[in-house]
Amino acid sequence: MGCPTGDVEVRYLPADRMVVERIIHWQVDHYRNAFPSFDHDDWIDFYGPHMRGQDGPLPVVLGAFEGTECVGTVAIVERDDLDDVDQYTPWIAAMIVDPSRRGCGIGRTLLNAALGRCRDLLISRVYLWTHDQFDWYRRLGWAEVERKDFRGVGITIFASDL
Ligand SMILES: CC(C)(COP(=O)(O)OP(=O)(O)OC[C@H]1O[C@@H](n2cnc3c(N)ncnc32)[C@H](O)[C@@H]1OP(=O)(O)O)[C@@H](O)C(=O)NCCC(=O)NCCS
Repeated sequence: MGCPTGDVEVRYLPADRMVVERIIHWQVDHYRNAFPSFDHDDWIDFYGPHMRGQDGPLPVVLGAFEGTECVGTVAIVERDDLDDVDQYTPWIAAMIVDPSRRGCGIGRTLLNAALGRCRDLLISRVYLWTHDQFDWYRRLGWAEVERKDFRGVGITIFASDL
């Protein structure tokens, strides 16, 4: 499909089941081999608080939109799936770009928007973990904090100071 030709706008993801189902399809596909437990129901649990509309400042779920079409998303959450990391909070989570739009700068735009939202919330340090995008986060200036094993897969926790 190629890169979007118009501007990509980042805004709050609407609590729209069809949009969320499309995103979940990307997520399940991406994690299928390494984390098969991240299945459809698990993602419904993840997006559930957002869909229901929570009171507190988190979670924040952002979407990148080309017109009305969602082409990527990222979340800011208080706790992620990892055990024994209570010292690390909050987290950038569930970053994903439409498979047909990758490599167009949408991921970077989303990540920058999420960091901006963290700054608005007066968050001074934010974390994320990845099992397969080490180079991407390093390239965008994230610093490695710790390597761990999560459900039998090697992961790295990164941090960004705001
Ligand atoms: C990782 C992901 C979010 C990146 O989004 P994207 O929109 O494709 O990335 P961008 O185009 O914004 O990338 C920014 C830069 O990094 C480069 N880049 C893209 N993917 C990269 C990768 N996997 N490793 C290293 N560099 C990468 C781009 O070429 C671009 O380079 P430039 O600065 O020279 O232009 C996207 O590939 C994706 O959704 N992957 C599957 C889900 C996933 O892995 N999520 C992360 C979970 S931790």
